[in-house]
Amino acid sequence: MEIKEQINRDKLPDHVALIMDGNGRWARKQGFARVKGHEKGVGAVKDTVEAAAELGIRFLTLYAFSTENWNRPKYEIDALMKLLVQAIHNEMKSLMDNNIRLTTIGDLSTLPAKSQKELQRAMNATSANTGLTLILALSYSSRWEIVEATRKLAEDVRIGKIAPEDIDSKLFASQLATAGIPDPELLIRTSGESRISNFLLWQIAYTELYFTNTLWPDFTKDDFFRAILDFQSRERRFGLTSEQINQVEATKKKRIK
Ligand code: IPE
Ligand code: IPE
Ligand code: MG
Repeated sequence: MEIKEQINRDKLPDHVALIMDGNGRWARKQGFARVKGHEKGVGAVKDTVEAAAELGIRFLTLYAFSTENWNRPKYEIDALMKLLVQAIHNEMKSLMDNNIRLTTIGDLSTLPAKSQKELQRAMNATSANTGLTLILALSYSSRWEIVEATRKLAEDVRIGKIAPEDIDSKLFASQLATAGIPDPELLIRTSGESRISNFLLWQIAYTELYFTNTLWPDFTKDDFFRAILDFQSRERRFGLTSEQINQVEATKKKRIK
């Protein structure tokens, strides 16, 4: 049976987050410059977005450029920004045809004006789409986001809008770039690195982590489906015991009947 057919459509994660890593190593292995790997990586983005939309996943967050990535060589940054503009431009029709809404998290003000403009245009054009929400993390880092949220809350306290004791995890989450988006149930990282690299630290408190050795440009729809299947085989306990979880499941089933 095909991998996709093995997926239980009733147990899909609402939100999948993905650290697309390994473009540079992919290129080097083929004897190319790093930028070639980024170019090839765009194809994997297309396939993955399509795969998520086909399954009916509601949110897909792709880590495209981190705050720390600004420290890379200028020509690589320029190439990445150019690729971003090109890819969005080329994919507009496909986003519309597939009912995909594009949004971003991150400090967009640090991006080149052209990238900002293209992104804004695409976000406006797709804002009424009701299928998959594709969230691009651009100039994003979790510590940046958490510090920003803290600043906003501190300001609200200063002007008397809220009291310090009003701050709870719900209010805090409402100040993050991901406000209104459910926490990811599954986080995938490619390229064999087992680290988070400043991505969604707050949001992944109870997320299932999936690491694969596949380099991002080689990542296929089936790789995505495999990660979903693996996710579905796990027992998410949220601090409870296995027995408690089984009981909750049994009660749910009874209610459905
Ligand atoms: C991921 O691939 C893309 C970005 C971080 C923009 P890398 O460029 O990090 O590739 P490696 O990790 O050096 O192989
Ligand atoms: C994480 O990859 C950031 C993105 C995928 C955009 P990096 O390649 O920047 O992460 P490190 O340096 O290996 O931790
Ligand atoms: Mg990398």
